Amino acid sequence: MSERLRQHLEANNGIPNLEILVPEQVDEAVRLFYRDGFVMVRDILTSEQVKFLRVGCERESEAVLAVDADNIGNRGRLRYSYGGASITNSVLHREEWVMLVDLPTLLPIITAIFGSPDYHIRRCAGDFCLPGCDYQPLHADIGEGFAQYKDPRGLVGLRDLPCPAIVANFLAQDFTLTNGPTRIIPGTHHSKVTIPSLEDEPEWMRLSTVCPVPAGTAMIRDLRTWHGGTPNLSKDMRAIPNAIFLAPWVYEPQKRSMPREMFDLLSEQGQRMCEWVVTNEPIETGYSLRYRGKEKVTM
Ligand SMILES: [Fe+2]
Repeated sequence: MSERLRQHLEANNGIPNLEILVPEQVDEAVRLFYRDGFVMVRDILTSEQVKFLRVGCERESEAVLAVDADNIGNRGRLRYSYGGASITNSVLHREEWVMLVDLPTLLPIITAIFGSPDYHIRRCAGDFCLPGCDYQPLHADIGEGFAQYKDPRGLVGLRDLPCPAIVANFLAQDFTLTNGPTRIIPGTHHSKVTIPSLEDEPEWMRLSTVCPVPAGTAMIRDLRTWHGGTPNLSKDMRAIPNAIFLAPWVYEPQKRSMPREMFDLLSEQGQRMCEWVVTNEPIETGYSLRYRGKEKVTM
């Protein structure tokens, strides 16, 4: 990466006047979420929880990198999806990710956005990128089950509906101007315009990143909102593990990825949310990058 890019990002990166809320601002979080297709809320995790999560992210990243000696990645070079690499499609067999299911700082906001507490966990996974990674093309996370949504009459599309799923990414370190903060394009959750390729993307979109933002913040996003990774010019791995919440009106069968002993760590509300992912059967866990060439890579 060139020194010129670093200087450019240091001078220009970031959404101007980005609002960063605190967990008590539930009504404002709902308003910004519906207006922009995402909202940033700090202090969702305590500093102890951030440390715990960061160590878990480093341990699991090393396990992923162990099956990718050439750092080819599964979301572009040096860029990885934990869920895309995990053979369970999730990391709900690890306590750090189970912690993300029923955070008392986050759930009131998710409940207020959906207008009901009757939502379900789809999975907990997220992504990480290594120093030297480049821009990831803008995309929406609707490549899997939601791409199948069809109105036989052709009248109502996925983007006409209320939010079908919320992705909460948790910052396991700060987002700086140069360590690969996510770029998000405000107001695109209902857009039916073709998402621009990297070549066609205007510069303001490349710079539409959520930074600087402190570790422990949650980036709460409608999964239809356009977003993408950006270059990591720092010396450290950047991790944003996530939890995905399916709207109360969505049913989507899941891979059984949460062992019973992890389920037992949850609150009553957390256990109900995880009823589609828990299993009493032994499950095989581990990482493989065999899916990286397929459609899955859009998630
Ligand atoms: Fe994505």
